[in-house]
Amino acid sequence: MIKVSPSILAADPLRMGEEVQRMVDAGCDWLHVDIMDGAFVPNLSYGPGLVKALRGRFSIPLDVHLMIARPEQYAETFIAAGADWLTVHAEAAQNLPALLKEIRRLGARPSVSLKPATPAERIAEALPLCDMVLVMTVEPGFGGQRFMTEQIEKVRRLREMGYTGHIQADGGVNLDNLPLLRQAGLDVAVLGTALYRSDNPQADIARIHAIP
Ligand code: DX5
Ligand code: ZN
Repeated sequence: MIKVSPSILAADPLRMGEEVQRMVDAGCDWLHVDIMDGAFVPNLSYGPGLVKALRGRFSIPLDVHLMIARPEQYAETFIAAGADWLTVHAEAAQNLPALLKEIRRLGARPSVSLKPATPAERIAEALPLCDMVLVMTVEPGFGGQRFMTEQIEKVRRLREMGYTGHIQADGGVNLDNLPLLRQAGLDVAVLGTALYRSDNPQADIARIHAIP
């Protein structure tokens, strides 16, 4: 079954608790928290304070996506704040294998993200060290962008390379492109706009869970 991880970036920041509760009540599996630093990506979002506040209220797994330069400086802070999954960008890490090992040592599940231009082969050596790969299906930095169909091939390539961990797609994901992503080997879907702006997220999540 595809796990559903709604991206909090699409929530109304003035009604964050209510909005997240609505996703949890609708049956989502994880919560995706996008952290942007204005350096690795041209936008700013949240910090460890939001992760800590979510951890205090919700017991659901927190899937934290660091879109920041020098992720090694902040991994410990986000794990202490309550991240269950910590995703770092292959393009940002100084020493990716060392960082993935450190994330695991600190008690979180390590995950690696690839920007659209970064090939799967770039992380061949790191694959045995990560429990998930996040394939960006838009340029990171903003919600509500158009899905890049050609990135489905990267999901397929990771499976061809023998990767058996979770594969997540993030950016422009919706009910129309999920069947193709699933066929390529995806098992975790991040949806921002598609779920937070939906009139019936419960029905949408049920439909995603029903994709074979
Ligand atoms: C983009 C973020 C995504 C984004 C997804 O940089 O990593 O998580 O919020 O939002 P949608 O689904 O609206 O593209
Ligand atoms: Zn994300």
